[in-house]
Amino acid sequence: MTTSTYSPQLQNAAIESFVKPKIEGLIDDLITSLPEINTLTSEERRGILARYTAVLEGNFIYWMTATLISVRSEGARPHLLENLDEEVREAHPVMLRKFAVAAHAFPTDTDALAVDADLTKVRQFLGRLSAVQSLATMAFFEGYIQRFMGYLANLAAARGSVEMEYTDVHGVCDIAHTQGLFDALAAETEVNPLDPKADIFEGVELLRALIHTIVYGQADKLAA
Ligand SMILES: [Fe+2]
Repeated sequence: MTTSTYSPQLQNAAIESFVKPKIEGLIDDLITSLPEINTLTSEERRGILARYTAVLEGNFIYWMTATLISVRSEGARPHLLENLDEEVREAHPVMLRKFAVAAHAFPTDTDALAVDADLTKVRQFLGRLSAVQSLATMAFFEGYIQRFMGYLANLAAARGSVEMEYTDVHGVCDIAHTQGLFDALAAETEVNPLDPKADIFEGVELLRALIHTIVYGQADKLAA
């Protein structure tokens, strides 16, 4: 038997002391660097709303489900099931579609293809069903979405929309969901720790790149 200095207990302690602060810091950086809405053209505002919708409408429940089927610990499961129950029962994709249509920002093929490469990477990553990495990714996603809601609502309002059910619901309920996902991450780490050679932030980084493309489109990539 080998003695590991990276035991499940140590990994679990690292969730609160290292993983959670790092994810929160990444979210802070993304939120504070968002472009000022009054400096954006109407088309740029539409593009952010449309690319966000292209990613979230069809993928959030899919990715939460992928995370659910990846976990082995009983402690992680209830957080994911509760989240999915609410998503499905309240039909959050319906709310999001209404929100995008009302802002005249329902995604076109161009919007969907602008996020395609980054979206594909996240889909394939979550398809590996690596529980701890998937939970870290979804905690980052849920935390980001909650912090992004005010900005998203302001974008829609700047396009003349008053349909705000989606942003109202997600600005509130996801605070509890995000903590639930960190709790699930800790529970899973106890039972099914990540291979010490793996990077716990691998999926987080892929999702961060996708969020960057949602906000900025392909503009900086084409210029590079
Ligand atoms: Fe939702």
